[in-house]
Amino acid sequence: MPSHYDKEVVLVVDDNVITCEVIQRNLELSGYHILTAHSVNDAIQILSRQNIDLLITDYKMPKHSGLELIKYVRDHLKDIAIIMLTGYGSVNSVVSAMKEGADEYITKPFTDKELLNAVKKSIREQKEKKIDTHILYNDDWTRFGIMGQSQNMLEVYSKIEKACNNDAIVLITGENGTGKELVARAIHYNNKIRSIYSFIPVNCPGIPASLFESELFGHVKGAFTGAFEHRKGFFQAAEKGCLFLDEISELPLELQAKLLRVLQEKEICRVGETQTKKINIRIIAATNKNLEDLVEKGLFRQDLFFRLNVINIEIPPLRDREDDIILLAKHFALKYAKELGKSESVFTDKAIIALKRYSWPGNVRELENLIHRSLIMNDKDIIDSGDFPDIMKFKVNYNPHFHLSLEDMSKKYVRDVVQQTGGNKAKAIEILKIDRKTLLKKLK
Ligand SMILES: Nc1ncnc2c1ncn2[C@@H]1O[C@H](COP(=O)(O)OP(=O)(O)OP(=O)(O)O)[C@@H](O)[C@H]1O
Ligand SMILES: [Mg+2]
Repeated sequence: MPSHYDKEVVLVVDDNVITCEVIQRNLELSGYHILTAHSVNDAIQILSRQNIDLLITDYKMPKHSGLELIKYVRDHLKDIAIIMLTGYGSVNSVVSAMKEGADEYITKPFTDKELLNAVKKSIREQKEKKIDTHILYNDDWTRFGIMGQSQNMLEVYSKIEKACNNDAIVLITGENGTGKELVARAIHYNNKIRSIYSFIPVNCPGIPASLFESELFGHVKGAFTGAFEHRKGFFQAAEKGCLFLDEISELPLELQAKLLRVLQEKEICRVGETQTKKINIRIIAATNKNLEDLVEKGLFRQDLFFRLNVINIEIPPLRDREDDIILLAKHFALKYAKELGKSESVFTDKAIIALKRYSWPGNVRELENLIHRSLIMNDKDIIDSGDFPDIMKFKVNYNPHFHLSLEDMSKKYVRDVVQQTGGNKAKAIEILKIDRKTLLKKLK
C-alpha cells in the first residue's frame, strides 16, 4: 500500500465541516492525501508546515475570506495549485479569485466528477508551470518578486530581509520608477504576521490638505458638512497590516505635525470624535526626494524625518545597476510577449548596447514601457535598436572616470556628447546647455 508520501497532498479549507468531509471522502477514494482546515488562519498554519500540492478553498468564510488566503499563497508559496469554491452565480467572486491567482473554480453544489476533473486539471497545469518557471528563473535572479543580480540590488534584498519580520518604520528612497512600491509590498507580504492583513498605499500629494485628517483617520457622521456617514480612514483600513505613505516629502508642514503626533502616540482620533483609538500598523514611507536636504531648507520636519528614518532602504537608479538592465529587459520582453500572445523576442547586439548605454532617467518603469511598446509596434520577434526612440541615442549613461581631473573630465564629456549626437552640434549644445562658442572652444 502506498504511503501518503507518494500521494498528492490536497488541503481543503471550508468553515462548513460537512463540505470538507464530503470532498475528503471523494478525493481519498481517488488516491489523494487530504488535510482539512476550517478557517484561513488554520490553513496558513498547515501551509507553513506542510508541502501542499493543491489548495481547495471556500470563498466566503467568517473572519478572513478565501480571497485573502489565495493572496497569501500566491505571495508566499507560488507553486501550489488553487481551486476556489463559490456559491452559484457569484460572478464577482470568481473574477476576483482568478485575478488573485486561483487556477480553477467550482460552483457549489458540484458533482464528484466535476470536483475530480478540476483537481486533476489544476494539479497537472501546476506541474507544467513549475517546469516553465524553472527554465525562466534557474538562477538567483529574483527575490521577493524583484529582479536583479547587481551588487546594489543584493544589498537591497538584504535590507528587505532585515525589515520583514519586525515593525520598525521603513523609509524607502530612490528616483522615480526604481521600484519603491515594489519593495514596500515585498516587505509587507514577507511579514509572517501582518501579510494576511491589508497593504494600504496612500499617495500623500493626492490628498487635499482640508481632507487630510478625515481621509487618514476617518470621520463620524455629521462631523462636517458632507459627512453623511461614518467613514473609515486609511489608518483603520490598514489595521494590523501596513500603511504605505508614498511621496511623503509632498506633505505640507502642518500635516507633517499631525502625522508625527500619530506616529508618536500610536493612536488616532476620528474627525468629529474626542475619543482616541489605539492603532496597530506598520508604516512604510517612500520618497524620491532627499529628505535631509528638505530638512535643511526647512521644508520637512526634522523630528518626523528621524521618526521615519529607522530603516532606510535606498534603491539605486537603474544606470548604476548595469548588470540588471539586460536581465530586466529580457524579463519584460517575456512578460509582454506572453500577454500579447507573441513568441519570445530576441535582442540584437545593437539593441543590447543601446540599452546598456542609455541613462534611464525613468528607471525600471521607463525600461518596462519601452519594451512593452517595442513588442506592440514590432511584428517580428527581434528587438533592434532601431525600434527604440531617438532620445536613447542622446541621453547616454555616463560612468565617471575617477582618475581624470575635473578639467579633463569635462573635455571628455563634451567629446562623448558630440560623438553620441553623431556630430550634431546643435543637439550637443542643447544637451550641454552651453553656447556654440564655448562648445567649439572645448572641442579644440
Ligand atoms: N527590480 C524590479 N524587478 C521587476 N520589476 C520592477 C523592478 N523594479 C521596478 N519594477 C517595475 O517597475 C515599475 C515601477 O516600479 P514602482 O512603482 O515600484 O516604482 P516607484 O519607485 O514606486 O516609482 P515612482 O517613484 O514613480 O512612484 C513597476 O511596474 C514595477 O513592477
Ligand atoms: Mg511609487
